[in-house]
Amino acid sequence: MTDRYALFGNPVGHSKSPRIHTLFAKQTGQDLSYEAILAPDDGFAAAVTAFVANGKGPARGANVTVPFKEEAFRLATKLTSRAEAAGAVNTLSFDAGAVIGDNTDGAGLVRDLKTNLGCDPAGRRILLLGAGGAARGVILPLLLENPAELLIANRTEETAARLALEFGRLPGCAVAVKPDGTGFPGLAGRSFDLVINATSAGLDNAVLPLPTSVFAPRCVAYEMVYGRETAFMAQARTAGARVADGLGMLVEQAAEAFFVWRGVRPHTAPVLAALKSAS
Ligand code: ATR
Repeated sequence: MTDRYALFGNPVGHSKSPRIHTLFAKQTGQDLSYEAILAPDDGFAAAVTAFVANGKGPARGANVTVPFKEEAFRLATKLTSRAEAAGAVNTLSFDAGAVIGDNTDGAGLVRDLKTNLGCDPAGRRILLLGAGGAARGVILPLLLENPAELLIANRTEETAARLALEFGRLPGCAVAVKPDGTGFPGLAGRSFDLVINATSAGLDNAVLPLPTSVFAPRCVAYEMVYGRETAFMAQARTAGARVADGLGMLVEQAAEAFFVWRGVRPHTAPVLAALKSAS
């Protein structure tokens, strides 16, 4: 019997996850199916229950995307520490009645930075733009890489400050450097080696009011959105930064989920190359 997996989201029509997981399965010789399921806004839990109950093979796991990551967090009967820190779940495993919630987004970002982009966060001054779900999900994994600094800047300053305070106090988080929070005006005169855009501004191409000084010489600018040139990417390019979009993070978070489910780590380079050549 083929093990079944699915992605739940709304929308999911253009998702690359079924292609990515199908390529991983082929590469590693794993017998599994992976489908995208469009859940109604008020029907996430019911859609998951139906997926588990119906179908030929056993349902082993699922990925969760916008707008259900917080709901998946509440649905899980057990959480990993990284899901707990993120306050959101993007990976579910179904195991004898238990629903284990994990979050592989931060690990995906860190792996993309280190392995694909040669940008190790260790010792770097990092600026994280945004204080919503996407930002929250990557803070702990970034802190665990021992950056020199992690500053969170957000349009709504209080949200950045609150998030920084929360992670500064995280129990069991053995990091020497605490994150700090500010609004965009607080960035004046400051410079960073890695600037990560975790705002959703790229989706409506809004320009962030960033001083050019934030992009230090040889800075890497990372846009979590993929598949389009955002205003942030244009800004960073003009300032001389090396620019990356979030396609690598997408593939790496999928590989981490695949590893959680199957205990096998797929090679991501050929899959990333296949997606790039298709776009
Ligand atoms: P996500 O899950 O994608 O992080 P979210 O939780 O709604 O979505 O958070 C969106 C983030 O993008 C927030 O940090 C938001 O800033 P505010 O807290 O001030 O709302 C940020 N954001 C969205 N549009 C923006 C824009 N045009 N300019 C600056 N920040 C923006």
